Amino acid sequence: MPITFQKTTGIFNLETENSSYQFRICPEGILEHLYYGRSISGADMRHLRPAPERGFSSGGFPFDISPAEYPGSGLGDFRISAVNPVNPDCSRSADFRYIGHEIRPGKYTLPGLPSVRGTSADADTLIVSLRDVLTGLCADLYYAVFPQLDVITRAVCLRNEGSGTILLEKAASVCIDFPFADFDLIHFPGGYGMERGVERAPLRRGIHTVSSQRGVSSHHENPFVILCDHAATEEYGACLGFMPVYSGNHKTEVELDCFGHVRLVSGIHDEGFSWVLEAGASFAAPEVILSYSHRGLGQLSRNYHRLIRENLCPPQFKGRKGEVLLNSWEAAYFDYDEKILLAIAREAASLGIDRFVLDDGWFGKRNDDTSSLGDWQANPGKLPGGLTGLAEKICQLGLSFGLWIEPEMISEDSDLYRNHPDWAVREPGRTPEPSRNQLVLDMTRADVRDYLFHSIDTLLSQANITYLKWDFNRPLTNAFSALLGREHQGEFAHRFILGTYELLSRLQAKWPDVLIEGCTAGGGRFDAGMLYYCPQIWCSDNTDALCRLKIQEGTSFGYPVRVMGSHVSAIPNHQTGRSIPLRTRSIVAMSGTYGFELDPRRLSPEEKSAVQEEIRQFGAYENLIREGDYYRLASAFEKTYSAWEFVSSDHSRALLNVVFTAAQPELAQVCIRLQGLLENAVYVREDTGKQYTGAALMYGGLVLSVPKGDDPGVQIFFKEIDM
Ligand code: DGJ
Repeated sequence: MPITFQKTTGIFNLETENSSYQFRICPEGILEHLYYGRSISGADMRHLRPAPERGFSSGGFPFDISPAEYPGSGLGDFRISAVNPVNPDCSRSADFRYIGHEIRPGKYTLPGLPSVRGTSADADTLIVSLRDVLTGLCADLYYAVFPQLDVITRAVCLRNEGSGTILLEKAASVCIDFPFADFDLIHFPGGYGMERGVERAPLRRGIHTVSSQRGVSSHHENPFVILCDHAATEEYGACLGFMPVYSGNHKTEVELDCFGHVRLVSGIHDEGFSWVLEAGASFAAPEVILSYSHRGLGQLSRNYHRLIRENLCPPQFKGRKGEVLLNSWEAAYFDYDEKILLAIAREAASLGIDRFVLDDGWFGKRNDDTSSLGDWQANPGKLPGGLTGLAEKICQLGLSFGLWIEPEMISEDSDLYRNHPDWAVREPGRTPEPSRNQLVLDMTRADVRDYLFHSIDTLLSQANITYLKWDFNRPLTNAFSALLGREHQGEFAHRFILGTYELLSRLQAKWPDVLIEGCTAGGGRFDAGMLYYCPQIWCSDNTDALCRLKIQEGTSFGYPVRVMGSHVSAIPNHQTGRSIPLRTRSIVAMSGTYGFELDPRRLSPEEKSAVQEEIRQFGAYENLIREGDYYRLASAFEKTYSAWEFVSSDHSRALLNVVFTAAQPELAQVCIRLQGLLENAVYVREDTGKQYTGAALMYGGLVLSVPKGDDPGVQIFFKEIDM
């Protein structure tokens, strides 16, 4: 049984194949966390409780020492709080005590929020209800246990069962305590064009915060952290992951206190946040996905990869073959008309590309980034037959047609702004901070969302569009809505992202087969929340293959390659000016959704046939790449080469990828140890015909000569043979 409750001890035990999670109801009715880690098969873990007496600690219940499952506030637990209420009488405490629980098959859902999907075959749900007797503030703690995936999801619903209004100034989704832990913290900071770097360091006394206040999950700190043994490697050691299913302002805090206790609290960022909880109302805090691996960081990543592929992304795209696309952005930027687009598309079709995507610049009078966002009608000067005509001609070439939009934005120079200046986010009396010459639409407003739904619905109805690239090119500032009352302004940022989720849900209900690729000035909203609606997200505007090694490696800690938007772009590269050969650019883009971001008219005949060969090669490996298990073998952050591998679920096929990032004449050879093979199986290396046992490749390794010359990428396919 994945979830059990023992009445005599008050212990809840949650079991996955390799992990156990345990907490109990103390005699006082307070929930005490006991354990999260490697499976202990239901053993009673109360012996792990720290001694309740510490100098000058609280005289009653030891709030400041007890490992809490979801702490209240103001009563003596001086670590990071999970919830900060302002009660009707302006007092600020919350004293949560157990009032009941329910265990049921299947996965809970959260109103208005994305969350992991699951049937009763995948997961069971536990809901534990707590209540502050004085104020009537209740917390329903949600847990879903996915035994086969080594995943537990958590969320919280706060309900006001009292008679007065409660203001929530913080409403975190998860708190988890580790009284005797000794962890490294790994997180994924970055910036525009350098998303999701990897930072790892031992926890130090105090609080480490991983957060965004940009209105989106951001380029700067991805909403994902890992706690792991100091010695944990890709293959060994205990690791715990925490991934909020949320795309707005998020915050994960990790505190190491003076006793060596670690507390992690994760959820909506509390800065600028408040939520008015009227009597009888409830508030759902977003889900956080927890996963555990004792087989290192690689297995932890694979747990998330499987979950995201199978249970988070829109199910209609599960297992579906991708379409190799050509995106017009780096091919033409704003400078095109129908003739040019068709010439590009014609060449694309001849290369074996499946989909043509028209990026920015097709609407209103947009010839640069200063106008027209919000006017979602084709520019007749550029597209005389409109989108209908263009899409028809593109489809006649044997390509499917995709379109770029940036729904949540508005240009001041647009008809939409001239008609509805009040739809733009701004504070009374203050000029909004400029960014990329555009303002943000107030997504908290139903009329704005209706306008956007109608506009996008019209586009999808009038032209044969099977893909949308959903962009978002500036942060949210001057957060304020003209329609939210004074006391509700603290709800703005969360209501904003709820508005985006609602719009995406409405569109998806009507157009389930339109694939929406998320994008936020590159990869600024690459998170589990968006992946619920978008089966792929553009990873970064930096398309330089060597830079991409780090970006994609960092992204791979939490997210599978099939969701990573990745394209082969032109040389010299538009961001770095480097000229990396096609083979390497293609190897890197293949470890993602695979597409092209260049003008094929500029390719020489030799380059064209090389591109055709790359596309053919991708076709041969696509299933292995998209559905196989992913292994990081050598890190671009640590070595002068990066190596990674895909292995089919039956272990019979493996694709090894290596890219050398520095030329070092004295380093003539490297030895790469593969993973995920069968020890006793025999594998043949496709390019040389040489045979190796799985054990030889995994424990001895494969010796590779560092390629001489300019092309640093190597891709080697192995196939098991019958002996
Ligand atoms: C930012 C995106 O990341 C690019 O790919 C491109 O779509 C531009 N916006 C268009 O404005």
